[in-house]
Amino acid sequence: MTPVLKLDEATIQFGGLIAVNKVSFELKQGELFGLIGPNGAGKTTCFNLITGVYAPTGGIVQFQGETVNGLPPFKIANKGIARTFQNIRIFPSLSVLENVMVGAFLRNRSSLGAALAHMPGAIKETARQRAEALALLELMDLADVAHTRSADLPYGKQRRLEIARALATEPSLLLLDEPAAGMNPQESDDLMQTVRKIRDDFGKTVLLIEHDMKFVMNLCERIVVLDRGEMIAQGGPSEVRNNPRVIEAYLGEAV
Ligand SMILES: Nc1ncnc2c1ncn2[C@@H]1O[C@H](COP(=O)(O)OP(=O)(O)O)[C@@H](O)[C@H]1O
Ligand SMILES: [Mg+2]
Repeated sequence: MTPVLKLDEATIQFGGLIAVNKVSFELKQGELFGLIGPNGAGKTTCFNLITGVYAPTGGIVQFQGETVNGLPPFKIANKGIARTFQNIRIFPSLSVLENVMVGAFLRNRSSLGAALAHMPGAIKETARQRAEALALLELMDLADVAHTRSADLPYGKQRRLEIARALATEPSLLLLDEPAAGMNPQESDDLMQTVRKIRDDFGKTVLLIEHDMKFVMNLCERIVVLDRGEMIAQGGPSEVRNNPRVIEAYLGEAV
């Protein structure tokens, strides 16, 4: 079966720094996949290569069998990849529901202008998107704050909102950059259940970056470890956790 995502020796050099160096891995349909490593290892840069923020200076990035290197971010997004950011990016003055509806409009760009012009088809479409957005808020446990100004949400809920908005674009691949950052243990446990549900009930493939090892080890089926741009290990959670090179570079004696 064609992998959902394939990196084949993906590389990017910024001046003298090789931030991602010949990194290769594949995600199967429906996998929960982790990307871990110390700060500066190149994890977010991998996301930027996958989503078209940067074009790789070497190697290949394929999505569902198609090479996407060098395509602009909106084209890659339209193919079915959505992401969240290490530093939350939501529209702070919009309500929670409105933020999710922006995601739905991004999926169908033509609908935004039509909706603004109050065209009949568009009104129906907007109603449908509103209903779908509300269902996503339900899934993300945000239904009770649908009409709250997003800036007024506590941090953990802002992170969940960003995921809801990403899902509203109906991606087949969801990339989460440190989704549990800043969450307390209860919030991070809840998020783990939700991400599992996103895969189990909605069939999404998920690639996530996370420093919370409990989160990664309990949730991810396979994990890639980066250190200074290089892939130093790949495998299941226990394999990675017991890998001496990973312990030395990242996990230390804590795990
Ligand atoms: N646009 C850029 N220009 C120059 N250097 C960059 C750029 N983006 C990332 N880097 C560098 O690439 C390395 C990897 O960064 P990053 O991918 O953000 O690490 P991680 O997410 O694993 O903490 C860092 O040394 C960072 O400073
Ligand atoms: Mg990062």
